[in-house]
Amino acid sequence: MRVLVTGGAGFLGSHTVAVLLASGHDVLVMDSFASGSRTAVERAGEVSGAPLGGGRLDLVTGDVRHPEQVADRLAAFAPDAVVHFAGLKSPTESVAHPAAYYSVNVAGTAQIAEAAARAGSRVLLFSSSATVYGDEAPAPVAEDAPPAPVSPYGWSKLMAEQVVRDVHTAHPGQRAAVLRYFNPVGAHPSGRMGEDPAGEPANLMPYVARVAAGHYPELKVFGADFATRDGSAVRDFIHVMDLAEAHVATLEWMAAQAEDPGVKVWNIGRGEGVTVFEMVRAFEEVTGRPVPHRVVGLRAGDIAESCAAVDAIAAEVGWRARRGVEDMVRDLWAWQQANPGGYGDRSGPGLRSA
Ligand SMILES: NC(=O)c1ccc[n+]([C@@H]2O[C@H](COP(=O)([O-])OP(=O)(O)OC[C@H]3O[C@@H](n4cnc5c(N)ncnc54)[C@H](O)[C@@H]3O)[C@@H](O)[C@H]2O)c1
Repeated sequence: MRVLVTGGAGFLGSHTVAVLLASGHDVLVMDSFASGSRTAVERAGEVSGAPLGGGRLDLVTGDVRHPEQVADRLAAFAPDAVVHFAGLKSPTESVAHPAAYYSVNVAGTAQIAEAAARAGSRVLLFSSSATVYGDEAPAPVAEDAPPAPVSPYGWSKLMAEQVVRDVHTAHPGQRAAVLRYFNPVGAHPSGRMGEDPAGEPANLMPYVARVAAGHYPELKVFGADFATRDGSAVRDFIHVMDLAEAHVATLEWMAAQAEDPGVKVWNIGRGEGVTVFEMVRAFEEVTGRPVPHRVVGLRAGDIAESCAAVDAIAAEVGWRARRGVEDMVRDLWAWQQANPGGYGDRSGPGLRSA
């Protein structure tokens, strides 16, 4: 298939591009470079044997909110499918900048979803998030649990899910799936691609890797008196390569459906909760590096436990995550060691452009 990947220069998008290419699909990445990296796209091509500009992988700069840019790219590429990763992703930042989050995540999704359908794309995958469940959902949480977002980011994802449903009603020829990610971590096993957050990482594992590498003196553990088995928060960490493979499996499944299956909503996790302390210990054991850490107060909005019910996508698509914590840690550390400064080409204006 010819697949347009918006946000394909980012963490999850670039790894999915690599797996799409390795699975025989051709890819056009469209990215505004608000936070992405051109090098990430180059390396996705490199690790998959389909170099950027070599006929199977191309890259255009474009903002998903701009109708002309979106229409031009779609008309020129004529994709069979669109995987829509482009978006802003920090719950904390969204509290201070709600308009940017609604603009990129909701209006941008409307623009892409409808333009893709008009351009004849047959499948749309949308990047949603476990944050739509809010902080009261039972663990493991199934897809039919009532949504209850607690941040503008979470609301923007829930609203964008509705946008995807409404566009599907208007254009039922375009199959659509909403994928709700839990906590993606790790890196490509080659050590050539990984997560490259600008500035101080907001997520646990990139921070752990930078502490182990000596960039930061210690890890702050936000809260150790949750009602969990060791007091620290529980998360459903999933290897980024499993997440990337979930996209390819879903895309191929959706494209193969003769009848419209309706808009599918699936959790993308492992279905296994791991505590923050367990992750830190696993990192120390696998890498042999100490990760000094200190317990500090809770962060606003952090919840005790988040874990996915994962049987729905397994039953229909046949996909399940197959990598464990050791794989996540080993691949993350290989990426960190080989690329201590990340990709080194990040000059995007970030949120200021939104
Ligand atoms: N990483 C996670 O923990 C996580 C969890 C749940 C959901 N998600 C969602 O998955 C998607 C990808 O996340 P990620 O971790 O790869 O983030 P990322 O920041 O690494 O990648 C996002 C990409 O989108 C691009 N982008 C931003 N605004 C754009 C715009 N207006 N037009 C075109 N491109 C634009 C950025 O330049 C970047 O390359 C996001 O939609 C995010 O909300 C991520």
